[in-house]
Amino acid sequence: MDGPSGTGKSSVSKRLARHLGAAYLDTGAMYRIATLYALRRRTDLADPAAIAATVADLPWSIGTDPEVEDIRLDGQDVRDEIRGAEVTAAVSAVSAVPEVRELLVAAQQRLGRKAHRVVVEGRDIGTAVFPDADVKIFLTASAEARAQRRNTQNIAEGRGDDYDAVLASVQRRDHLDSTRTVSPLRAADDAVVVDTSDMNIDEVTAALTAVVTEQTGAT
Ligand code: DC
Repeated sequence: MDGPSGTGKSSVSKRLARHLGAAYLDTGAMYRIATLYALRRRTDLADPAAIAATVADLPWSIGTDPEVEDIRLDGQDVRDEIRGAEVTAAVSAVSAVPEVRELLVAAQQRLGRKAHRVVVEGRDIGTAVFPDADVKIFLTASAEARAQRRNTQNIAEGRGDDYDAVLASVQRRDHLDSTRTVSPLRAADDAVVVDTSDMNIDEVTAALTAVVTEQTGAT
């Protein structure tokens, strides 16, 4: 499952995984852990070689149970910290470094292959990580719809209310993610593209469950 942030990708991926009895892997969280580590080590984010060197010995772990979010750095629970503004602002720089992507893609493939069934969400899953996936889905939505959802989520989680800033951040990250040279964000040629701008999470889940059933027979 690929697509930009704010399309409902995470919520829907988790729901699909539960529904299918599958494991779940949030690859965005992996790039965020790497970013948090680089920030903690005070790595120069303008220096890709320095980022690559820091992330090479990343002391991290991530669970694949859709019911239990387990994300650790140095053994410490960093679920909240990786979603904070500081990491969000820096993650595009870290995820654009080829050595970082190589390391994390290899880990994603390892974790994915261990599972009998797995729903993997990210930006390059259908194009680079699992090009032979049974089902590829690309979720899209307008920048405004995505910013609205992210802002609502921020308010619910006590992160403040600033729609304009969220929209600017969504547009900035879209630009960086789709124009970077390594694995830019794009739909795989054989992905089913779903625009979620005018759909709620139940509607998206129902539509995607139908796609999975149709393409794999899994219910
Ligand atoms: O889905 P998210 O917002 O948690 O992702 C965080 C960042 O990680 C996002 O800016 C793009 C990057 N990312 C990536 O480059 N490749 C992936 N497979 C997943 C995320």
